[in-house]
Amino acid sequence: MSLAAYCMICCRRIGTSRSTKSDRQWKDIRKIATVTSSLFLGGCLFITYEVLLQKKHRTLDTEAVEQENMKSYIYVDTIVSAQRDLQGITNKARKELHQAVRRAIVASAKFFKTPIDETFSNLSVDAHECAMWLLLKRTQSKNRTVRLQAVQDLAANHHWHDYQYRTVAQACDMKTIIGLARSKDVDYRFFLPPPMLPKVDDEYSTEDELHHLLSSLPQTELDKCVQYFTSLALRESSQSLAAQRGGLWCFGGNGLPYAESLSLVPSEKVEIFCLQALVKHSKVSTHCEKIVAKGGLQLLQRIYQLRQDSAKIRRTIVRIIGNLALHERLHPAIVCSGWVSLLAEELKSPRIIQCSHAARALANLDRDTVQEKYPDGVYVLHPQCRTSEPIKADILFVHGLLGAAFKTWRQQDSEQPPNTKGAHDADDYTECWPKTWLASDIPALRIVSVEYDTQLSDWKAKCPDDNYRKSIPYRSNELLNKLKSAGVGERPIIWVSHSMGGLLVKKMLLDASRNTEMKALVKNTRGILFYSVPHHGSRLAEYSVNARFLLFPSVEVKELSKDSPALKQLNESFLEFAKENNYKVLSFAEKLPTRIGRMVKLHVVPVESAGLGTGELIPVDVNHLNICKPKRKDSFIYKRTLHFIQDALAEDLGGP
Ligand SMILES: *[C@@H]1O[C@H](CO)[C@@H](O)[C@H](O)[C@H]1NC(C)=O
Ligand SMILES: *[C@@H]1O[C@H](CO)[C@@H](O)[C@H](O)[C@H]1NC(C)=O
Repeated sequence: MSLAAYCMICCRRIGTSRSTKSDRQWKDIRKIATVTSSLFLGGCLFITYEVLLQKKHRTLDTEAVEQENMKSYIYVDTIVSAQRDLQGITNKARKELHQAVRRAIVASAKFFKTPIDETFSNLSVDAHECAMWLLLKRTQSKNRTVRLQAVQDLAANHHWHDYQYRTVAQACDMKTIIGLARSKDVDYRFFLPPPMLPKVDDEYSTEDELHHLLSSLPQTELDKCVQYFTSLALRESSQSLAAQRGGLWCFGGNGLPYAESLSLVPSEKVEIFCLQALVKHSKVSTHCEKIVAKGGLQLLQRIYQLRQDSAKIRRTIVRIIGNLALHERLHPAIVCSGWVSLLAEELKSPRIIQCSHAARALANLDRDTVQEKYPDGVYVLHPQCRTSEPIKADILFVHGLLGAAFKTWRQQDSEQPPNTKGAHDADDYTECWPKTWLASDIPALRIVSVEYDTQLSDWKAKCPDDNYRKSIPYRSNELLNKLKSAGVGERPIIWVSHSMGGLLVKKMLLDASRNTEMKALVKNTRGILFYSVPHHGSRLAEYSVNARFLLFPSVEVKELSKDSPALKQLNESFLEFAKENNYKVLSFAEKLPTRIGRMVKLHVVPVESAGLGTGELIPVDVNHLNICKPKRKDSFIYKRTLHFIQDALAEDLGGP
């Protein structure tokens, strides 16, 4: 199918004569200003009637065109106006609209078939609107440069009339709407509200629906542990679903702390369990198709809208969308279900986690300007929008035990014991210095933060299968593959690591050096920053069983224990390797003890363990958790970090 057929546009003026209907409401409509429509590949058709109602642009909703073979939607501005208008529209008026749309579609086909200079002589378009239509037409140019420029020019409009944004929203194609969503400071009116969701039976709760979706997915290629929990969930449900509505059937009773009070489990919790299982499914390519085919996009959207107040549910959902977006064949379905509008909005969130999940999903959708694909757990903190700034180097942030892609790298906040509820709430903490400070100090960087499970979500430790506990070699391999897909290795690289993340970085570099496909990653590495990395083990590992158990899964602790053979070998082979490759190295070591639980304070990584044996080692007056969380932009750790990066990349960044 040609590009022209990919999206059709029409702009027509329909005179006042049209509004001579008996219906009172309809009489109020003086003029139908614009009728536009767009057709997306994949058989989904958006049609909107822009109606000038008492000099206000208003979008009407009618079911008229839903009788078309193609599924179609007519949008409304607000639910309230929708209901009022719907009641007021007679069958005859609907028919009129219906016919107008047909004409619109025919005319739109012509519009895109005609060469650019002839287009406007055939259509009666106001002169001041020509620019908009011309831009729209250019967004479909075969020439990529022209296309991207047109999207950029569209996005630069901040003072249009409301209906002009809406016209573009309805008329543009899939690539353009994704491009607009990834444009900085774009007007939100470029995005249509998502199509109305299919009606659901009141009998069914979202839990039921999630359960339904999960049970319809194959159990193949899944983590043993996910299989275990899903099967437990399904078994539980068939026995006791009716009796324990609202109970934790989704993820089985026994393993969970709520076991005694099943009925008290908040449905939000249940949904999170189910969504986490769905995340696992969305990592398996063949399952993605099934999720979409079973209406997953719509179900997720419903939950997304119902759970406005749960940041965790919303970002888990966006994470699933991001995983689905890895598959280009699913892009039309994702776009048609209205997700781009929601992602565009989420991208503006002041919460770093929310906007980074949205940025990943949109980057995976944007096949026009992004060559890389960002697998689950790989987040770009900068740039999150399309930019003309050339990217000269990659900075990779790798967190440690109990860390996460975002919360590890936030600015320092009040002292909190780890592993308490408080630490989890801090998920929402917004300031993340690699995004806010580093990106403004060195804009020519791509800043990537990676995340790996250091615990298997909320149902960790309950799975009878021990194999899921991930060792450093396992993670190294997994992460290397993800980074390769994200294009890491093609530019100069600086690694920034905290705690066990540093061991992972060392292991990855060594593994990459033994893999011919990954040699570029080794060669392009310029430097490594270690924040309290236990090169020679951690005292925590030998500490009380309790603290250990609270904090760390067992495999990691074994790997971290002082003088463990694995660590020793890693130490020796890496030191040699780093010197051979001329890597610049900087290490920080904590001087203050960290509070663990209520009673215990200790140096997690003693100074003598934090030195690699090459590069500078700087002990600082902070604890293990705060060492990678500078307080202010002028604090020593940040300044020294920035200096290290600038120095290691001096040749690559160019300039003074
Ligand atoms: C695409 O358009 C640009 C700008 O108009 C032009 O310089 C370039 O030669 C065009 N490329 C192709 C392949 O036509
Ligand atoms: C680390 O490796 C270096 C170089 O082989 C060696 O001198 C040093 O003793 C090792 N340290 C530990 C704690 O194994």
